Amino acid sequence: MTVEFDVKDPSLAEGGRRRIQWAEQEMPVLRHIQARFEKEQPLKGTKVSACLHVTTETANLMRTLQSGGADVVLAASNPLSTQDDVAASLVTHDEIPVYAIKGEDNETYYKHIHAALDIEPNFTMDDGADLVSTLHKDRRELLDNVRGGTEETTTGVIRLRAMAANNALAYPIVAVNDAMTKHFFDNRYGTGQSTIDGIVRATNILLAGKTFVVAGYGWCGRGLAMRARGMGANVIVTEIEPLAALEAVMDGFRVMPMAEAASIGDIFCTLTGDINVIDEHHFALMKDGAIVSNSGHFNVEINIPSLESMAVEKRKPREFIEQYILNDGRSINVLGEGRLINLAAAEGHPASVMDMSFANQALSLEYLLKHAEELENKVYTIPEDIDREIARMKLEEMDIQIDTLTEEQEAYLASWEEGT
Ligand code: ADE
Repeated sequence: MTVEFDVKDPSLAEGGRRRIQWAEQEMPVLRHIQARFEKEQPLKGTKVSACLHVTTETANLMRTLQSGGADVVLAASNPLSTQDDVAASLVTHDEIPVYAIKGEDNETYYKHIHAALDIEPNFTMDDGADLVSTLHKDRRELLDNVRGGTEETTTGVIRLRAMAANNALAYPIVAVNDAMTKHFFDNRYGTGQSTIDGIVRATNILLAGKTFVVAGYGWCGRGLAMRARGMGANVIVTEIEPLAALEAVMDGFRVMPMAEAASIGDIFCTLTGDINVIDEHHFALMKDGAIVSNSGHFNVEINIPSLESMAVEKRKPREFIEQYILNDGRSINVLGEGRLINLAAAEGHPASVMDMSFANQALSLEYLLKHAEELENKVYTIPEDIDREIARMKLEEMDIQIDTLTEEQEAYLASWEEGT
């Protein structure tokens, strides 16, 4: 069989394979699902177009779906997150068509999404909803074939819920991000660790003693604030939600508006899902040498065009750092072009946490295969029994035992007569 693909360099495949196998060791839940899929072939004959970050962990998900009998095609879900050796290995060793090149321009990015749609999918698997959006805007002739889809991330789920509210969504979607075994762990511990990893790999700065501004106190922001504090940074949180802001205060962080934090911070990271969270009037206040980064899905959280227009010069002191020199002589350093720094400069979340996220993806797809026809064209939360089963499997694979309720305890919880 000849596999169509567009990857940087197929000769990188061997190194990619070794790294994929390394990640696999930390993905026991997915391995368990893969073994069952291999036997039961629940996805036989199903065509899946996936648009995900092309990492070692995603490679293991693609191999799992293939083991279950699916024909899968993979395109990048971000121009900077692709691991070129992984793309090469999937094409060379697994005959999975991959369309992804690290550093691809916007035109190539969308060309790759279109290529992934050319298989005329029955299911979509998205991270950020660019695939679903392209399908609904430009490839509507394919919609008749599509039975359902899954969505990985907060930003994508928000976009898809907006589509459903507009009656624009043409098929049911399972929001993998809604699973507790996804966002409690991936968004919090995954983003917390991988964002620090990306900032450190890009800059090699010491975090201890620095003032670190975290914009947004959702699950991702909470994880980053917690880990930045753990590295000895002085953490400031900015928020727009009173409840989240209050939580940040009681978690022990300083909370203030970005306009105040801008002049104090040494390092900034946005994780809000919204645009221009760091804007022109913030750059105007920043210290010389401030470091600005983003770990939200899209590169819109930092207003880079306004910084471009403020700058008199642009330098590149290191890979993944763009240094803007302003006319008063201050410099502002933007990491990874304002794209997801954890995937641009590092390798994304570690495999152990993606194990649960991608177990949710695999089981959501299986669920859709059985139930898509009963569902409306809406965004669904993953069934709780699947979520709980993934938590149970993860604990088992970690060799951790927990208690079970006694009959007496169960009866007590089901009763209302007994009080003081
Ligand atoms: N999103 C965040 N980290 C990731 C990873 N390692 N693989 C795929 N998607 C991710």
